[in-house]
Amino acid sequence: MKAHILFSCFCVLSLYFLKEWPRGWVCLTATNPTTFSKYNSSRDVTILLWYWPFGRAFSLMGNVCWDLYRIPRCRLVDKRSSFSSADVVVFHNRELIAGHQKLPLNLTRPQGQRWAWMSLESPDHNGNLQQYADIFNLTITYRRDADITIPYGELLTKEDEGHLVEDVRQNKSSLVCWVVSNYQRHHKRSQVYSELKTVVPVKVYGSWTQTRLPSTALLPTISQCYFYLAFENSVSKDYITEKLWRNAYQGGAVPVVVGPPLSDYRAVAPPNSFIHVDEFASVKDLGGYLQQLAGDKKLYNEYFAWKQHWKVKLYRDWRERLCKICLEYNNLPQRKVYSDLEAWVYATS
Ligand SMILES: *[C@@H]1O[C@H](CO)[C@@H](O)[C@H](O)[C@H]1NC(C)=O
Ligand SMILES: *[C@@H]1O[C@H](CO)[C@@H](O)[C@H](O)[C@H]1NC(C)=O
Ligand SMILES: *[C@@H]1O[C@H](CO)[C@@H](O)[C@H](O)[C@H]1NC(C)=O
Ligand SMILES: *[C@@H]1O[C@H](CO)[C@@H](O)[C@H](O)[C@H]1NC(C)=O
Repeated sequence: MKAHILFSCFCVLSLYFLKEWPRGWVCLTATNPTTFSKYNSSRDVTILLWYWPFGRAFSLMGNVCWDLYRIPRCRLVDKRSSFSSADVVVFHNRELIAGHQKLPLNLTRPQGQRWAWMSLESPDHNGNLQQYADIFNLTITYRRDADITIPYGELLTKEDEGHLVEDVRQNKSSLVCWVVSNYQRHHKRSQVYSELKTVVPVKVYGSWTQTRLPSTALLPTISQCYFYLAFENSVSKDYITEKLWRNAYQGGAVPVVVGPPLSDYRAVAPPNSFIHVDEFASVKDLGGYLQQLAGDKKLYNEYFAWKQHWKVKLYRDWRERLCKICLEYNNLPQRKVYSDLEAWVYATS
């Protein structure tokens, strides 16, 4: 007892005289272990990107996470020499499965360091992940159940309520538009398209039909269509890309979607802002509904009511996605290992 009091007094005194916080803190933790974790939770988190996705590097000058995204206490680095001080080391899947990059399995991971597997691809394009069992502690993908969710886009609430455009239909000249470069007959979307075009006219752009749109022409072209086919090339859990967020929502056409189940869309997009193919008994019924909607000013304009309360936010910069790790860092599970990454990636529900 006496020794304990003496020890505490020494700590307080040393803290007082030395004015050296870490040393005093070490003493305090001897009697109060919770101080320890509190201290650590407010320190800077270091995220090390082992190599840049697709070989394209971006500047990390200054305090990037704070300067660009107002995310505090987040150090984003790409120098491998920072390995020993990194809290999270991020590996982008594409370069690993292509054999262009290797995991530094020869290095000893510092205590508590987490390795993160990152991909924005659908499962079919992620390659064989069986070789990565028991390596990663975190997943960073568009999936809602990933440790760090990096969607292609999302809706943010508007601070001021916008007012609704009187009649969105004014400048529209095509009923249904589709932009497609990678056309493959076996895709579910191709089957829906083939059936739909027998019911309603579908205007097709993109390299498949040798009518590629320059990027500056994409949204203005879509804005002239009542409906835009936001058809994903892969049908998999939560895989909702910029075809919805950018092309349709920002282009100002009502998205008709083929992709994950209706419930996945409902989780991230407002009701009555899109039309899901599964809502209809047949593609024929869908076509009939589109025709009816285009002819009904009131009903059609209701598909834009969400714009009064929401605005679209796109995610396109890897730095922003990586900085987001810091926002979640203190809520990450203490210990987690993906013992079967392949099974996780291919999980359907
Ligand atoms: C807490 O932070 C200190 C100083 O940065 C570090 O030395 C220590 O390893 C950290 N402890 C844990 C459990 O992360
Ligand atoms: C460990 O492996 C990495 C990646 O293959 C390599 O860059 C590095 O030089 C190796 N380090 C040591 C100490 O062997
Ligand atoms: C329609 O087009 C005209 C001229 O291009 C433009 O001024 C107007 O804002 C457009 N209206 C809508 C509702 O987009
Ligand atoms: C991360 O995964 C490795 C390899 O399986 C494991 O040894 C380590 O304990 C894990 N770390 C955390 C913080 O979960």
